[in-house]
Amino acid sequence: MPLTLTIDGTPTPAPLGATIFNCAERASIHIPTSCLKNGKCKECVVEIAEGSSYLSEPTPFERHLTGNFRLSCQAAIASSEGRIQCHTMRRGHMRIERHALGLPGSGRPMELDPAVTRQAGRILIDGQEIDRSTGPIHGIAMDLGTTTVVLRLLDLETGELIADTSFENPQRFAGSDVMARIQYDTAHPGKLLRRTLAGYLTRAIQEFPVAPASIYEMVVVGNSTMRDLFFRQSVYSIGQSPYRSITELEMAEGKRPSTALTETGRRCLLPIHPKARVYGAPIISGHVGADAAAAMLAIDLAHEDRIVALMDIGTNTELILGNRHRILAASCPAGPAFEGGAIACGMPALDGAIEDVRLSEWGGPGYPPPSWVRLPSSRFLTVIGGGAPQGICGSGLVALLSELLRTGRMNERGRFEDDIHRIDLAPGIYFLESDVNELAQAKGANISGLRVVFANYGIEFDQAAVFYLAGGFGRHLDSSAAARIGLIPRIPEDRIVQIGNAAIEGATIALLSQSKRRELERLVRTVEHCRLETHPQFFDFFVDGCQFHPLESTSEAPV
Ligand code: FES
Repeated sequence: MPLTLTIDGTPTPAPLGATIFNCAERASIHIPTSCLKNGKCKECVVEIAEGSSYLSEPTPFERHLTGNFRLSCQAAIASSEGRIQCHTMRRGHMRIERHALGLPGSGRPMELDPAVTRQAGRILIDGQEIDRSTGPIHGIAMDLGTTTVVLRLLDLETGELIADTSFENPQRFAGSDVMARIQYDTAHPGKLLRRTLAGYLTRAIQEFPVAPASIYEMVVVGNSTMRDLFFRQSVYSIGQSPYRSITELEMAEGKRPSTALTETGRRCLLPIHPKARVYGAPIISGHVGADAAAAMLAIDLAHEDRIVALMDIGTNTELILGNRHRILAASCPAGPAFEGGAIACGMPALDGAIEDVRLSEWGGPGYPPPSWVRLPSSRFLTVIGGGAPQGICGSGLVALLSELLRTGRMNERGRFEDDIHRIDLAPGIYFLESDVNELAQAKGANISGLRVVFANYGIEFDQAAVFYLAGGFGRHLDSSAAARIGLIPRIPEDRIVQIGNAAIEGATIALLSQSKRRELERLVRTVEHCRLETHPQFFDFFVDGCQFHPLESTSEAPV
């Protein structure tokens, strides 16, 4: 069989000896570079999903890469037979559904109070002139996740959202979770992680429909490791007990008033105005980051009297519980499974991801909707962007697990029935029994965290007035499916509010309002960090959480 090469789902001619980069160029697939393909910039990373043995051996320029990652300018076709599948870091667009999110304040115009202002043609940050211009003033809110990076471009004078984009974090080559990134950065102190990300950010910013020099401020949120790497802080101390960020340690020593960070655009290697300010929102602790802090802003926790819960499911799941009088926060190292990582055909909730699945015997008037793809095997799928499926994202995985349980094809221990070990979803896209194990472990980590936080607060799940469910899911996360598999507690459905990416909402608020930014800095100082592993039932909670059954409203582990 002649060799076939597929890049990002596109079949591509692959002559012997050609590099993946050259093959991609011929197929008009863009791969970032700023070194003329000579191995120096390290930006052209691709992930080889299949067929790495048909490629040339890694070159010395690739010594920094692990796993299935290669530099596309170095990896050349070395066989005339076989099948190679690879993908660049995937990209997509978030859906902007602010009015549908159910956030406190959704639909209410926000009071604009940006740090960047204009006075008679002078552009000021905190009263200091940084430029003269009569053109528009823009800002960027960024959620820098371990798996996915989300950017929003806003007009700072009107609050109007102008554009948004998201892409897989290209730092994935250094491991899928924060501990792996910390180890990598410690072993390769040459700022490789930062440089690779800067290449992708530069491209994303240059593609926005405004002059980059009109961008005068950027607000960055993310977990403590991602944020501190971006700001060139050492992250070594986050990886060692007692797991504290440099900014926390400095604050404890009285060297800084807050864990927030600031830099200029130039020092952050970004193509925005060189004197632009880049503000890193404050973190809560070494493992409860600025993304969790931003989520508190998004749900207006500083003014909330009811006890509310927030679960932001990701590689590092963030948990918040409380009200304006008392707040507990925790993070669970759940791994990337619910963001599509470590799953054979998983991917983030970007274009091409299967975001919902229904198995057979589904029907009834008007169902399934016409936009669903019917497969020959009585399965129905929806795909983000409507194109051919390239993988399955978190919401699709939750739906699939729920459907497997509902139709009796999988038991509560996550074992498939009838000696089946693989379920085909679409051509080349499948789900393995071993994928269920990854999801079970991730669920166990999330649930043990949730149980400990509620137990420490001294309340049951059903005593939370609202359960905010956030995360990098697609639009179609079905909360009843999440409750069926026990990913969220079984509580009245009207109390579960899906808020999408709460971190980017909070970053947007902090970008548009200085007073909200100050409120956030005050709020994070009041948060009690809850250490999960110190709870005596933590392990029991974890074991039970790995089972696929509903999570009842009790904080005790079943005996
Ligand atoms: S293009 Fe720069 S390292 Fe490959």
